[in-house]
Amino acid sequence: MPSVSQSPKGPPLLSLGIETSCDETAAAVILREPDGTGKILSNIVRSQWNDHLPYGGVVPEIAARAHVECLDDLISVALKEAGITLDDLSCVSAAAGPGLIGGLIVGLMSAKAIALSKNLPFIAVNHLEAHALTVGLTQGIKPPYLLLLASGGHTQLLLVHDVDNYTRIGTTIDDALGEAFDKTAKLLGLPQPGGPAVETQALHGDPARFKLPRPMRGRQQPHFSFAGLKTAVRQRATEIAPLTETDIQDLCASFQAAVVESVQDRCMRAFEIYEDLMKERLEITGKIFVIAGGVAANQKLRGSLEELAQSRGFTLHAPPISLCGDNAAMIAWAGAQRFALGLNDDLAAPARPRWPLDQNAPAAIGAGVKA
Ligand code: KG4
Ligand code: ZN
Repeated sequence: MPSVSQSPKGPPLLSLGIETSCDETAAAVILREPDGTGKILSNIVRSQWNDHLPYGGVVPEIAARAHVECLDDLISVALKEAGITLDDLSCVSAAAGPGLIGGLIVGLMSAKAIALSKNLPFIAVNHLEAHALTVGLTQGIKPPYLLLLASGGHTQLLLVHDVDNYTRIGTTIDDALGEAFDKTAKLLGLPQPGGPAVETQALHGDPARFKLPRPMRGRQQPHFSFAGLKTAVRQRATEIAPLTETDIQDLCASFQAAVVESVQDRCMRAFEIYEDLMKERLEITGKIFVIAGGVAANQKLRGSLEELAQSRGFTLHAPPISLCGDNAAMIAWAGAQRFALGLNDDLAAPARPRWPLDQNAPAAIGAGVKA
């Protein structure tokens, strides 16, 4: 297969992307130049947080219905902002998984309808691949690189060899990191999504007040675990209840400090694995470390991973904060990158609620369904 990173080709592409895998409805248009660089022409995101607020988490049926209600309008706005019509498009993409099946079907059906009616190539994009490739759109970073992908549903360390070519070297054996932030926020009475709420509280808290575990530290394989950490927060909170504002701030800061140290340790192990790989595969010359996914918006994590990367001679790249969370620009970009390689999909492509990036990765020992 020709490599997108080595041999960019073809005319400029105008790519429409649609994202409906969870609780953000999004549509975007990007331009992919023949040299493989990209530009965002429009990027419209409607978050459903308020729709789910009374339930303390995302309700799949409410999410799917909310996507149906606004997706057509969002697509129109995205096209208008980009200054184009459907007739100008080169291809259309939608997130086909992993995610909530009802929402995925809404986005896929819209993308397929546009593709069919305008006779356009259609690409069924893996949402995780879209996160993984975002730095190509925003900073022109090309594979190969080491990736920490941390979102609400996944926490993985991956070797990104190229588009469509990934090796998973680490994964969570229980909760995803974003999920741990969300559950911690919930148990402390903070709003969802929990990540930003915990980060804000942590700014004012004492990270050393509560002794919390650093899960998986020192383990040979760079896997993660966050369920026990969240439970430890619950225990400390129960012990000192009723909680004052200061207690909540200190619990958040202590939780975030534990997360950062655990993730740093796991990434250090991944750096060693990557360095060993570089000795075997001489085409890997740069020590590039990328973080992506909603949790990559966390400033403390970004800062500490930047320091860690520098200490080992790696360069850290992360998308701008506004493109760490779910959006459709990343779907449009991943779709364009795949289209440039001829990786189009049939209109029969299904929604895939579970869709690992590395299909050959073995289940991590002790892992539940999320690995
Ligand atoms: O990538 P994303 O938008 O959706 C999924 O694909 O899951 O990630 C959402 C997750 C949520 O769990 C949210 O709490 C977390 O990312 N998140 C954060 C921050 N911003 C979003 N976690 C920690 N710190 C943040 N600033
Ligand atoms: Zn995501």
